[in-house]
Amino acid sequence: MLQIVILAAGKGTRMRSARPKVLHTLAGKPFVAHVIDRARDLAADSIQVIVGHGATEVQQTLADDSLQFVEQREQLGTGHAVLQALPQLSGSATVLILYGDVPLISSETLAQLVAKVGGNTMGLLTVTMEDPHGYGRIVRNAMGEVRAIVEQKDADYEQQQIREVNTGVMAVRGEFLQRWLPQIKNDNAQGEYYLPDIIAMAATDGIAIETVQPASCNEVLGVNNRAQQAQLERVYQLAIAEKLMAQGVTLPDPARFDCRGDLRTGEDCFIDINCVFEGDNQLGNNVLIGPNCNLKNAVVGDNTVIHANSVIENAVIEGDSNIGPFARLRPGSHLAQGARIGNFVETKNAKIGKGSKVNHLSYVGDAELGADVNIGAGTITCNYDGANKHKTSIGDNVFVGSNTALVAPVQLEDGTTVAAGSTITHGSKAKQLVIARNRQRNIDNWKRPQKKS
Ligand code: UD1
Ligand code: CA
Repeated sequence: MLQIVILAAGKGTRMRSARPKVLHTLAGKPFVAHVIDRARDLAADSIQVIVGHGATEVQQTLADDSLQFVEQREQLGTGHAVLQALPQLSGSATVLILYGDVPLISSETLAQLVAKVGGNTMGLLTVTMEDPHGYGRIVRNAMGEVRAIVEQKDADYEQQQIREVNTGVMAVRGEFLQRWLPQIKNDNAQGEYYLPDIIAMAATDGIAIETVQPASCNEVLGVNNRAQQAQLERVYQLAIAEKLMAQGVTLPDPARFDCRGDLRTGEDCFIDINCVFEGDNQLGNNVLIGPNCNLKNAVVGDNTVIHANSVIENAVIEGDSNIGPFARLRPGSHLAQGARIGNFVETKNAKIGKGSKVNHLSYVGDAELGADVNIGAGTITCNYDGANKHKTSIGDNVFVGSNTALVAPVQLEDGTTVAAGSTITHGSKAKQLVIARNRQRNIDNWKRPQKKS
């Protein structure tokens, strides 16, 4: 049985924020949610989140039946924090302790650590640092066995030279926590109950402390301020960028790429600089995305091109389509094969049929367009009467002249031609020409007004 305890009670003073630290985000997701995801990767039997500062906000944000929240009313130290979880821990379980503000920890490293736990062994995650200042130092004896952890503020000169440090992450049988946690004292430089003090107790009790090092130092970086938050964000994004490039995506600058969610790609995609992907996005083969695009929950088919500065949300774009620059596809937009949405065009809850074009300066909302439709520049679906939304239906092969207002509900049947500048208030039958504008009048020899002298 594996039980996981995540410490998330700290205030995070250095974030200088009204929000509890663990709710600040990495790749659009709270730090602690990343840690919870790793706990889930390990198929833990229980996950306890120790909350304190902003407890209600943290619980509301994370609310999920698979999580138990335990309140640590006063933050008296990491040992005191884990003590709060003790009533829920089983003696025979392996207990893994994680930190809500250390979001890049990998499940591979954690699995290695958990594997170290036995009847008389425990696992401790350590790293060796160039500059270990501020961290708890790992004290080993002449045989190289771990004997204790000494905090920076309690370390003597010699101990301060030790470069192997405590990451805080450890795995141990529940029965040992039951024995050791109540024995932790706070007679130290910070007056706190230190969790790392259980290491000396383990050594005394003849429990072997087996150390594991993470594959990368980044895994154990904690976030204390906004600069570290930004640093971790870039580490995280670069890892995704490298993974995509390894899968055959071209990124002209992996440092200017952001994915806040999932991005699946086919072969030979090209993603230009400064694009932001949110939620769950899927690109087919040979998709080209220009600079500064924002895609959120989009599905994009093979060979589609999305030009610069386009914003796409909850939309499906089938293959061979051509979007933007400066297009905005809002939720419910569905573009069939070979559609074309040009600059300053907004679509919302709109089906655009195969090969249809909305090239310039239009709004198409609550509409269904057939195949091979051409919507002229400046055409607007007037879908909203101030109280309700209404639908515009357009058949196949319809030509709508520029600057047309389509007052919904309205239906244009197949092959309709609408004259430019029309205001369409009722529909058309197949193949009709519809003109709904004042007839042009020309007056000969018009005298313009003269300026008075
Ligand atoms: C801790 C370790 C140190 C280690 C370092 C690695 C202790 C005493 N020291 O130091 O050996 O090198 O982490 O980063 O554990 N927390 C609570 N409740 C509390 C106190 C802390 O939930 O009462 C949470 C904090 O929110 C934070 C984490 O525990 O997420 C670590 O606490 P912090 O005080 O930052 O420990 P460090 O001084 O960094
Ligand atoms: Ca501290």
